[in-house]
Amino acid sequence: MSNDYFYGSSGCTCAVWNSHSTHGRGEHTTNMQEHPTRSLSNALLCREYEEDPAPLKTFLSGSSLGNGGPQLSFIPTAGAPAKASSPPPRIWQVFLEKERNPKSPGVVTHSSGNHGQAVAYAAKCAGLPCSVVVPKGTPKVKCDAIVNYGAELVFCEPSPAARKEVCAQIAEATGKAIIHPFDNYNVMAGQGTIALELLEEVPDLDAILVPISGGGMTSGIAVATHGLNPNCRVFAVEPVGKDLQRSLESKERLWPNPNRFLDTIADSIRIQQVGDLTFPILCDYAESKVFSVTDDQMIEGMRFIFERMKLVVEAASGAAVYAAMNSLEDVTPPPRKVGVILCGGNVDLDHLPWIDRKTSY
Ligand SMILES: Cc1ncc(COP(=O)(O)O)c(C=O)c1O
Repeated sequence: MSNDYFYGSSGCTCAVWNSHSTHGRGEHTTNMQEHPTRSLSNALLCREYEEDPAPLKTFLSGSSLGNGGPQLSFIPTAGAPAKASSPPPRIWQVFLEKERNPKSPGVVTHSSGNHGQAVAYAAKCAGLPCSVVVPKGTPKVKCDAIVNYGAELVFCEPSPAARKEVCAQIAEATGKAIIHPFDNYNVMAGQGTIALELLEEVPDLDAILVPISGGGMTSGIAVATHGLNPNCRVFAVEPVGKDLQRSLESKERLWPNPNRFLDTIADSIRIQQVGDLTFPILCDYAESKVFSVTDDQMIEGMRFIFERMKLVVEAASGAAVYAAMNSLEDVTPPPRKVGVILCGGNVDLDHLPWIDRKTSY
């Protein structure tokens, strides 16, 4: 495979994949315009929208865990950008919409809350109107943030189909551009910047664990990681019941239809099926081994991060933490230097899920 060089609009030179190369990991083809290998170059391009890369990287080594285990590097991805003036680069698509169509009537998305916040914030920065469709039952902390960023909040019935349908209706009625939460190559590329940040800090990671829902974050990270450090394996971490591993192993979508929300405490990663665009990328670039985590295990992971790192993270992040601390021996060879994506911190502080649990021995 050859490297090519990409000249971004600010003149920076970045090594990226040659978009004509084959991956050696699969035969997936889409048209060149939208070929997933563009994701790494897009992740690098997307970065030019970023004035201040992720504010915080925190490292916790195996010895801190007291089990002689792997070295873990945690990267928080959510929360406020470092400076109020720096738009979140991960939703690059919003800025592209504004550039391509300065008179755009705005953007609309559907989301379990975090993507909606990011789009709302990006739209505010870009000066575009924004609507966000969220399922009834979305945590108040996420809804409040969406409204505070100036977006219109629209509730729908709690199902993947309802989310999509209401979003499409708004787009149809208003002309707003749909920013899909995962089945959009530029959104995936934005998520790929997480890998850039992480691997810049710890280039020799041998694994990265990513909580997964529709698969945008995992796809973006897997493509960018494969371009930067092909020895680093990217594993998805799912709520029990998603059953992603079977589909990845067979490279076929084996889920029953219709798509549904899983019964899990992790409200950000509730969709059972990954996207039509993300699935082939996951088959090509992510490991087929998937870590499945129960609610109790996620809470254990959340609590650990709260106690040791003084960071409040969502249950989805707790899932990755739990898997990193307890399940790495399930893979061969077990990774020794592992990046863990702390993908969200929007938690209702009045209802921390471990609060009623045993507090002393
Ligand atoms: C907390 C959290 N975890 C994980 C994800 C990844 O979701 P997806 O797999 O749909 O990209 C998201 C996406 O918004 C998220 O908010």
